[in-house]
Amino acid sequence: MNYNIAVIPGDGIGPEIVREARKVLDRVGKKFGHTFNYKELLMGGISIDTYGVPLTDETLLEAKKSDSVLLGAVGGNVGNSRWYDVAPNLRPEAGLLAIRKGLGLFANIRPAYLYEELKDSCPLKAEIAAEGFDMVIMRELTGGLYFGERHTSEVNGVMTAVDTLTYNEEEIRRIAIKGFEIARKRRKKVTSVDKANVLDSSRLWRKVVAEVAKDYPDVTLENMLVDNCAMQLVKDPAQFDVILTENMFGDILSDEASMVTGSIGMLSSASLSSSKLGLYEPSHGSAPDIAGQNIANPIATILSAAMMLRYSFDLDAEADAVENAVKQVLSEGYRTVDIMSEGMTKVGTDKMGDLIADRI
Ligand code: IPM
Ligand code: MG
Repeated sequence: MNYNIAVIPGDGIGPEIVREARKVLDRVGKKFGHTFNYKELLMGGISIDTYGVPLTDETLLEAKKSDSVLLGAVGGNVGNSRWYDVAPNLRPEAGLLAIRKGLGLFANIRPAYLYEELKDSCPLKAEIAAEGFDMVIMRELTGGLYFGERHTSEVNGVMTAVDTLTYNEEEIRRIAIKGFEIARKRRKKVTSVDKANVLDSSRLWRKVVAEVAKDYPDVTLENMLVDNCAMQLVKDPAQFDVILTENMFGDILSDEASMVTGSIGMLSSASLSSSKLGLYEPSHGSAPDIAGQNIANPIATILSAAMMLRYSFDLDAEADAVENAVKQVLSEGYRTVDIMSEGMTKVGTDKMGDLIADRI
Protein backbone atom coordinates (compact mmCIF):
# COMPACT_ATOMS: atom_id res chain seq x y z
CA MET A 1 0.00 0.00 0.00
CA ASN A 2 0.88 3.65 -0.45
CA TYR A 3 0.60 6.06 2.45
CA ASN A 4 1.04 9.82 2.43
CA ILE A 5 2.47 11.08 5.69
CA ALA A 6 2.74 14.74 6.59
CA VAL A 7 5.92 15.14 8.59
CA ILE A 8 6.33 18.08 10.92
CA PRO A 9 9.82 17.98 12.44
CA GLY A 10 9.22 21.20 14.41
CA ASP A 11 11.78 22.71 16.77
CA GLY A 12 14.59 21.68 19.11
CA ILE A 13 15.29 17.96 18.94
CA GLY A 14 12.24 17.50 16.66
CA PRO A 15 14.16 17.13 13.36
CA GLU A 16 16.63 14.59 14.82
CA ILE A 17 14.04 12.29 16.33
CA VAL A 18 11.70 12.47 13.34
CA ARG A 19 14.60 11.48 11.07
CA GLU A 20 15.04 8.27 13.06
CA ALA A 21 11.32 7.50 12.98
CA ARG A 22 11.35 7.86 9.20
CA LYS A 23 14.33 5.53 9.03
CA VAL A 24 12.34 2.90 10.91
CA LEU A 25 9.19 3.46 8.82
CA ASP A 26 11.22 3.06 5.64
CA ARG A 27 12.55 -0.25 6.90
CA VAL A 28 9.00 -1.35 7.68
CA GLY A 29 8.00 -0.36 4.14
CA LYS A 30 10.80 -2.41 2.63
CA LYS A 31 10.08 -5.46 4.73
CA PHE A 32 6.29 -5.45 4.41
CA GLY A 33 5.94 -3.97 0.92
CA HIS A 34 4.52 -0.51 1.62
CA THR A 35 5.54 2.88 0.34
CA PHE A 36 5.53 5.81 2.72
CA ASN A 37 5.60 9.19 0.98
CA TYR A 38 6.59 12.09 3.18
CA LYS A 39 5.67 15.72 2.86
CA GLU A 40 7.64 17.97 5.21
CA LEU A 41 5.70 20.82 6.77
CA LEU A 42 6.68 23.64 9.11
CA MET A 43 5.01 24.32 12.42
CA GLY A 44 5.96 26.05 15.67
CA GLY A 45 9.02 28.26 16.02
CA ILE A 46 10.46 27.41 12.63
CA SER A 47 7.17 28.40 11.01
CA ILE A 48 7.26 31.69 12.92
CA ASP A 49 10.76 32.33 11.59
CA THR A 50 9.73 31.44 8.04
CA TYR A 51 6.15 32.70 7.73
CA GLY A 52 5.59 34.85 10.82
CA VAL A 53 2.92 32.55 12.27
CA PRO A 54 3.18 29.16 14.05
CA LEU A 55 0.80 27.41 11.63
CA THR A 56 -0.24 28.62 8.19
CA ASP A 57 -3.56 27.76 6.55
CA GLU A 58 -1.62 26.01 3.77
CA THR A 59 0.17 23.77 6.26
CA LEU A 60 -3.09 22.85 7.93
CA LEU A 61 -4.61 22.06 4.53
CA GLU A 62 -1.66 19.85 3.59
CA ALA A 63 -1.97 18.01 6.90
CA LYS A 64 -5.69 17.50 6.27
CA LYS A 65 -4.99 16.02 2.85
CA SER A 66 -2.49 13.51 4.22
CA ASP A 67 -3.25 10.01 5.52
CA SER A 68 -1.59 10.87 8.81
CA VAL A 69 0.72 13.31 10.54
CA LEU A 70 4.02 12.59 12.26
CA LEU A 71 5.19 15.37 14.54
CA GLY A 72 8.50 15.88 16.37
CA ALA A 73 8.02 18.68 18.89
CA VAL A 74 7.40 22.41 18.86
CA GLY A 75 8.53 25.26 21.07
CA GLY A 76 11.74 26.60 22.48
CA ASN A 77 13.19 28.38 25.46
CA VAL A 78 10.76 30.92 26.82
CA GLY A 79 13.79 33.25 26.80
CA ASN A 80 13.65 33.21 23.00
CA SER A 81 12.04 36.59 22.57
CA ARG A 82 11.51 36.11 18.82
CA TRP A 83 8.98 33.38 19.62
CA TYR A 84 7.69 34.41 23.02
CA ASP A 85 7.53 38.22 23.22
CA VAL A 86 4.42 38.09 21.05
CA ALA A 87 0.69 37.60 21.55
CA PRO A 88 -0.14 34.13 22.94
CA ASN A 89 -1.84 33.10 19.68
CA LEU A 90 1.42 33.67 17.79
CA ARG A 91 3.68 31.53 19.98
CA PRO A 92 4.95 28.11 18.82
CA GLU A 93 2.53 26.15 21.03
CA ALA A 94 -0.44 27.95 19.47
CA GLY A 95 0.39 26.06 16.27
CA LEU A 96 -0.06 22.79 18.11
CA LEU A 97 -3.44 23.82 19.54
CA ALA A 98 -4.57 25.06 16.12
CA ILE A 99 -3.66 21.84 14.34
CA ARG A 100 -5.41 19.77 17.04
CA LYS A 101 -8.57 21.80 16.58
CA GLY A 102 -8.21 22.08 12.80
CA LEU A 103 -7.88 18.33 12.31
CA GLY A 104 -10.58 17.53 14.90
CA LEU A 105 -8.15 15.51 17.04
CA PHE A 106 -10.36 15.13 20.09
CA ALA A 107 -8.87 11.94 21.50
CA ASN A 108 -5.33 11.93 22.82
CA ILE A 109 -3.88 8.59 23.88
CA ARG A 110 -0.76 8.64 26.03
CA PRO A 111 0.54 5.29 27.20
CA ALA A 112 2.59 5.17 30.41
CA TYR A 113 4.33 1.87 30.74
CA LEU A 114 7.13 0.72 32.99
CA TYR A 115 9.66 -1.14 30.88
CA GLU A 116 11.08 -4.18 32.65
CA GLU A 117 14.55 -3.19 31.36
CA LEU A 118 14.21 0.35 32.73
CA LYS A 119 12.78 -0.35 36.17
CA ASP A 120 15.88 1.19 37.74
CA SER A 121 14.93 4.58 36.28
CA CYS A 122 11.52 4.53 38.03
CA PRO A 123 11.57 7.20 40.77
CA LEU A 124 9.00 5.34 42.88
CA LYS A 125 9.83 3.08 45.83
CA ALA A 126 11.33 -0.24 44.76
CA GLU A 127 8.33 -2.26 45.99
CA ILE A 128 5.94 -0.15 43.90
CA ALA A 129 8.19 -0.32 40.81
CA ALA A 130 8.51 -4.09 41.27
CA GLU A 131 4.79 -4.46 40.57
CA GLY A 132 5.15 -2.59 37.28
CA PHE A 133 2.36 -0.68 35.59
CA ASP A 134 0.84 -0.29 32.16
CA MET A 135 -1.80 2.37 31.63
CA VAL A 136 -3.03 4.70 28.95
CA ILE A 137 -4.34 8.16 29.52
CA MET A 138 -7.22 9.02 27.23
CA ARG A 139 -7.29 12.81 27.27
CA GLU A 140 -10.00 14.92 25.65
CA LEU A 141 -8.02 17.29 23.42
CA THR A 142 -10.23 19.88 21.72
CA GLY A 143 -12.50 21.17 24.47
CA GLY A 144 -12.52 22.46 28.02
CA LEU A 145 -10.33 25.25 29.31
CA TYR A 146 -7.98 25.10 26.34
CA PHE A 147 -10.60 26.20 23.85
CA GLY A 148 -13.11 28.10 25.98
CA GLU A 149 -13.57 31.82 25.74
CA ARG A 150 -10.89 33.83 27.51
CA HIS A 151 -10.08 37.45 28.04
CA THR A 152 -8.24 39.80 30.34
CA SER A 153 -9.68 43.20 31.18
CA GLU A 154 -9.97 45.73 33.91
CA VAL A 155 -13.02 45.26 36.12
CA ASN A 156 -13.67 48.09 38.60
CA GLY A 157 -10.05 49.16 38.28
CA VAL A 158 -8.69 45.64 38.93
CA MET A 159 -7.05 43.55 36.22
CA THR A 160 -9.13 40.40 35.83
CA ALA A 161 -8.56 37.33 33.69
CA VAL A 162 -11.25 34.85 32.69
CA ASP A 163 -10.92 31.36 31.21
CA THR A 164 -14.02 29.27 30.66
CA LEU A 165 -14.42 25.51 30.96
CA THR A 166 -17.18 24.22 28.74
CA TYR A 167 -18.13 20.69 27.72
CA ASN A 168 -21.25 19.53 25.99
CA GLU A 169 -22.57 16.00 26.25
CA GLU A 170 -21.56 15.15 22.68
CA GLU A 171 -17.94 16.05 23.30
CA ILE A 172 -17.96 13.91 26.43
CA ARG A 173 -19.72 10.98 24.79
CA ARG A 174 -17.32 10.66 21.85
CA ILE A 175 -14.20 10.64 24.04
CA ALA A 176 -15.84 8.25 26.52
CA ILE A 177 -16.60 5.83 23.67
CA LYS A 178 -12.93 5.94 22.62
CA GLY A 179 -11.93 5.26 26.22
CA PHE A 180 -14.20 2.23 26.58
CA GLU A 181 -13.19 0.90 23.15
CA ILE A 182 -9.53 0.95 24.04
CA ALA A 183 -10.20 -0.55 27.48
CA ARG A 184 -11.95 -3.43 25.75
CA LYS A 185 -8.69 -4.24 23.96
CA ARG A 186 -6.74 -4.02 27.22
CA ARG A 187 -7.56 -5.01 30.81
CA LYS A 188 -11.15 -3.75 30.63
CA LYS A 189 -11.07 -1.06 33.27
CA VAL A 190 -11.84 2.64 32.86
CA THR A 191 -11.05 5.14 35.58
CA SER A 192 -12.92 8.32 34.72
CA VAL A 193 -11.26 11.29 36.38
CA ASP A 194 -13.11 14.49 37.18
CA LYS A 195 -13.76 17.10 39.87
CA ALA A 196 -17.44 16.36 40.28
CA ASN A 197 -17.42 17.57 43.89
CA VAL A 198 -16.90 21.12 42.60
CA LEU A 199 -17.42 21.56 38.85
CA ASP A 200 -20.64 21.41 36.81
CA SER A 201 -18.68 20.31 33.76
CA SER A 202 -17.40 17.35 35.78
CA ARG A 203 -20.87 16.41 36.98
CA LEU A 204 -22.07 16.30 33.35
CA TRP A 205 -18.91 14.35 32.47
CA ARG A 206 -19.67 11.74 35.11
CA LYS A 207 -23.30 11.41 34.02
CA VAL A 208 -22.49 10.94 30.33
CA VAL A 209 -19.63 8.51 31.04
CA ALA A 210 -22.03 6.40 33.12
CA GLU A 211 -24.48 6.32 30.20
CA VAL A 212 -21.77 5.22 27.77
CA ALA A 213 -20.62 2.57 30.26
CA LYS A 214 -23.98 0.80 29.88
CA ASP A 215 -22.96 -0.19 26.34
CA TYR A 216 -19.78 -1.80 27.70
CA PRO A 217 -20.93 -4.21 30.41
CA ASP A 218 -17.64 -6.11 30.06
CA VAL A 219 -15.64 -3.02 31.10
CA THR A 220 -15.45 -1.90 34.73
CA LEU A 221 -16.02 1.80 35.32
CA GLU A 222 -14.62 3.60 38.33
CA ASN A 223 -14.90 7.34 39.03
CA MET A 224 -12.04 9.16 40.71
CA LEU A 225 -11.52 12.78 41.70
CA VAL A 226 -8.54 14.36 40.02
CA ASP A 227 -6.68 15.26 43.21
CA ASN A 228 -6.99 11.70 44.44
CA CYS A 229 -5.84 10.43 41.04
CA ALA A 230 -2.69 12.56 41.25
CA MET A 231 -1.98 10.85 44.56
CA GLN A 232 -2.84 7.33 43.40
CA LEU A 233 -0.49 7.65 40.41
CA VAL A 234 2.50 7.69 42.74
CA LYS A 235 1.03 5.46 45.42
CA ASP A 236 -0.33 2.59 43.35
CA PRO A 237 0.02 3.10 39.59
CA ALA A 238 -0.62 -0.60 38.89
CA GLN A 239 -4.34 -0.07 39.61
CA PHE A 240 -4.83 1.91 36.37
CA ASP A 241 -5.68 0.56 32.95
CA VAL A 242 -7.41 3.42 31.06
CA ILE A 243 -7.63 6.85 32.65
CA LEU A 244 -10.35 8.84 30.89
CA THR A 245 -10.31 12.55 31.52
CA GLU A 246 -10.86 16.07 30.23
CA ASN A 247 -8.26 18.26 28.56
CA MET A 248 -6.61 20.14 31.43
CA PHE A 249 -6.64 17.26 33.91
CA GLY A 250 -5.21 15.04 31.18
CA ASP A 251 -2.42 17.50 30.47
CA ILE A 252 -1.32 17.45 34.10
CA LEU A 253 -1.87 13.76 34.85
CA SER A 254 -0.12 12.61 31.68
CA ASP A 255 3.05 14.46 32.67
CA GLU A 256 2.86 12.87 36.10
CA ALA A 257 2.28 9.41 34.64
CA SER A 258 5.18 9.78 32.23
CA MET A 259 7.48 10.95 35.00
CA VAL A 260 6.81 7.91 37.15
CA THR A 261 7.97 5.67 34.32
CA GLY A 262 11.33 7.41 34.75
CA SER A 263 11.83 7.53 31.01
CA ILE A 264 9.77 10.18 29.31
CA GLY A 265 12.01 9.72 26.25
CA MET A 266 10.23 6.39 25.71
CA LEU A 267 6.61 7.53 25.67
CA SER A 268 4.61 7.90 22.50
CA SER A 269 1.24 9.49 21.88
CA ALA A 270 -1.55 9.49 19.35
CA SER A 271 -4.20 12.12 18.74
CA LEU A 272 -7.19 10.72 16.89
CA SER A 273 -10.17 12.19 15.06
CA SER A 274 -13.44 10.61 13.98
CA SER A 275 -11.74 9.54 10.73
CA LYS A 276 -8.52 7.54 10.26
CA LEU A 277 -6.46 10.72 10.18
CA GLY A 278 -4.37 11.04 13.32
CA LEU A 279 -1.39 12.96 14.60
CA TYR A 280 1.43 11.06 16.25
CA GLU A 281 4.10 12.64 18.40
CA PRO A 282 6.31 11.82 21.36
CA SER A 283 4.89 12.76 24.77
CA HIS A 284 7.99 14.80 25.56
CA GLY A 285 8.80 18.32 24.39
CA SER A 286 11.38 19.91 22.11
CA ALA A 287 14.25 19.88 24.66
CA PRO A 288 16.07 22.87 23.10
CA ASP A 289 18.97 22.49 25.56
CA ILE A 290 20.10 19.22 23.98
CA ALA A 291 19.11 19.93 20.36
CA GLY A 292 21.65 19.18 17.64
CA GLN A 293 23.91 17.08 19.86
CA ASN A 294 22.81 13.65 18.65
CA ILE A 295 21.94 12.58 22.22
CA ALA A 296 18.13 12.80 22.22
CA ASN A 297 16.22 9.55 22.65
CA PRO A 298 14.30 8.84 19.40
CA ILE A 299 12.33 5.91 20.85
CA ALA A 300 9.19 7.88 21.81
CA THR A 301 8.91 9.14 18.23
CA ILE A 302 9.61 5.70 16.78
CA LEU A 303 6.90 4.23 19.01
CA SER A 304 4.56 7.04 17.93
CA ALA A 305 5.17 5.96 14.33
CA ALA A 306 4.20 2.45 15.45
CA MET A 307 0.94 3.84 16.83
CA MET A 308 0.37 5.48 13.42
CA LEU A 309 0.77 2.12 11.72
CA ARG A 310 -1.71 0.59 14.15
CA TYR A 311 -4.40 3.26 14.49
CA SER A 312 -4.37 5.12 11.17
CA PHE A 313 -3.28 2.38 8.76
CA ASP A 314 -4.53 -0.77 10.57
CA LEU A 315 -1.09 -2.34 10.09
CA ASP A 316 -0.94 -4.30 13.34
CA ALA A 317 1.82 -6.74 12.35
CA GLU A 318 3.99 -3.83 11.22
CA ALA A 319 3.35 -1.96 14.48
CA ASP A 320 4.21 -5.09 16.47
CA ALA A 321 7.46 -5.38 14.52
CA VAL A 322 8.48 -1.85 15.53
CA GLU A 323 7.56 -2.35 19.18
CA ASN A 324 9.40 -5.66 19.32
CA ALA A 325 12.47 -4.14 17.69
CA VAL A 326 12.53 -1.47 20.42
CA LYS A 327 12.23 -4.11 23.15
CA GLN A 328 15.00 -6.15 21.55
CA VAL A 329 17.41 -3.23 21.36
CA LEU A 330 16.75 -2.45 25.01
CA SER A 331 17.24 -6.06 26.07
CA GLU A 332 20.55 -6.07 24.20
CA GLY A 333 21.63 -3.26 26.51
CA TYR A 334 21.66 -0.23 24.18
CA ARG A 335 20.71 3.04 25.84
CA THR A 336 20.59 6.72 24.99
CA VAL A 337 22.00 8.92 27.73
CA ASP A 338 18.60 9.72 29.34
CA ILE A 339 18.01 6.03 30.19
CA MET A 340 21.66 5.03 30.63
CA SER A 341 22.63 2.83 33.56
CA GLU A 342 25.74 0.94 34.60
CA GLY A 343 26.93 -1.84 32.34
CA MET A 344 24.82 -0.73 29.37
CA THR A 345 26.08 0.51 25.99
CA LYS A 346 25.57 4.22 25.42
CA VAL A 347 24.52 5.20 21.89
CA GLY A 348 23.51 8.43 20.16
CA THR A 349 20.25 9.34 18.45
CA ASP A 350 21.17 8.11 14.98
CA LYS A 351 22.76 4.90 16.20
CA MET A 352 19.64 4.08 18.23
CA GLY A 353 17.56 4.57 15.07
CA ASP A 354 19.91 2.30 13.08
CA LEU A 355 19.77 -0.43 15.72
CA ILE A 356 15.97 -0.43 15.82
CA ALA A 357 15.63 -0.33 12.03
CA ASP A 358 18.05 -3.27 11.73
CA ARG A 359 15.85 -5.37 13.99
CA ILE A 360 12.63 -4.90 12.00
C1 IPM B 1 1.02 18.74 25.81
C2 IPM B 1 1.63 20.12 25.96
C3 IPM B 1 0.70 21.13 25.32
C4 IPM B 1 -0.63 21.07 26.05
C5 IPM B 1 1.26 22.57 25.31
C6 IPM B 1 2.60 22.62 24.60
C7 IPM B 1 0.30 23.55 24.71
O1 IPM B 1 1.86 20.40 27.30
O2 IPM B 1 0.84 18.30 24.67
O3 IPM B 1 0.71 18.14 26.82
O4 IPM B 1 -0.78 21.71 27.10
O5 IPM B 1 -1.51 20.36 25.58
MG1 MG C 1 1.42 18.78 28.61
